[in-house]
Amino acid sequence: MLVVRDVTVRFGGLTAVSRFDIDVPDVGIFALVGPNGAGKTTLINALSRVAPVTEGRIELDGIDVLRLRSHQVVRYGIARSFQKAEMFASLTVLENILVGLHVQMRTGLEGALFLPTTQRQETNGRERAESLLRELDLWDVRDMSPADLPYGHQKLLDVARALIAEPKVLLLDEPFAGLTDAETPRLVTYIAAAGKRCAILMIEHHFELLEEIAERITVMNFGQKIAEGAPASIRADPEVVRCYLGTGRQSRAETRVEA
Ligand SMILES: Nc1ncnc2c1ncn2[C@@H]1O[C@H](COP(=O)(O)OP(=O)(O)OP(=O)(O)O)[C@@H](O)[C@H]1O
Ligand SMILES: [Mg+2]
Repeated sequence: MLVVRDVTVRFGGLTAVSRFDIDVPDVGIFALVGPNGAGKTTLINALSRVAPVTEGRIELDGIDVLRLRSHQVVRYGIARSFQKAEMFASLTVLENILVGLHVQMRTGLEGALFLPTTQRQETNGRERAESLLRELDLWDVRDMSPADLPYGHQKLLDVARALIAEPKVLLLDEPFAGLTDAETPRLVTYIAAAGKRCAILMIEHHFELLEEIAERITVMNFGQKIAEGAPASIRADPEVVRCYLGTGRQSRAETRVEA
């Protein structure tokens, strides 16, 4: 279980995340929603040790996550995808997935650190990467450069790159943003299956999609938690409707172009 207590992230005078608490159980799909700028990505950055945590406590199965460096986090079971997928153009699709075995990506490619893995991990990893590519219907493009693929394919790859590490906790930052109508159901199936094996904390603006797959939704506004509960109770919460669902922000977010 991932336990987050009283976590605050400040950038100079701006408090992006404020005294935030969340528990993420071992298995299941848990969503994080809120208006643009609410602090959702910053929270995920804090959990993956990319954003500096000013105050608070983050523990995964008793391990003090705040004592880990960002490149160690994946080894302790926390992997993530990015709001804006970035791939290594000089590597193939298959190789880009294998990168997930070696590194915890930072905010972008420039921060990636290659770390040694054993031969056995590498072999198992290759088999898993190949099966991931088949599941995501990306097998035919495995030897291409991601730069030559549509953006939606790159988003799928980014999720696959996080999952290959077989994390305990998978953090997904708007995995569906930029996907086509054809790609979306494929990723829904895939995430739903993954959510039976590990914990998924997912930022997502498509509320109807969350109603389908998330067992709990946490709502954030101005860095703070304003509601948490089953999707039906969140939809009916007047405060959530006032600051998020009812404002038209959600529909704007859904039509937002991410690439
Ligand atoms: N590295 C940073 N330095 C300074 N300010 C930052 C940094 N990262 C985020 N912020 C600020 O923190 C606030 C929260 O941003 P964040 O990206 O976490 O929001 P979000 O909820 O993910 O929004 P969106 O839905 O648009 O992705 C914003 O005001 C943002 O400008
Ligand atoms: Mg964000």
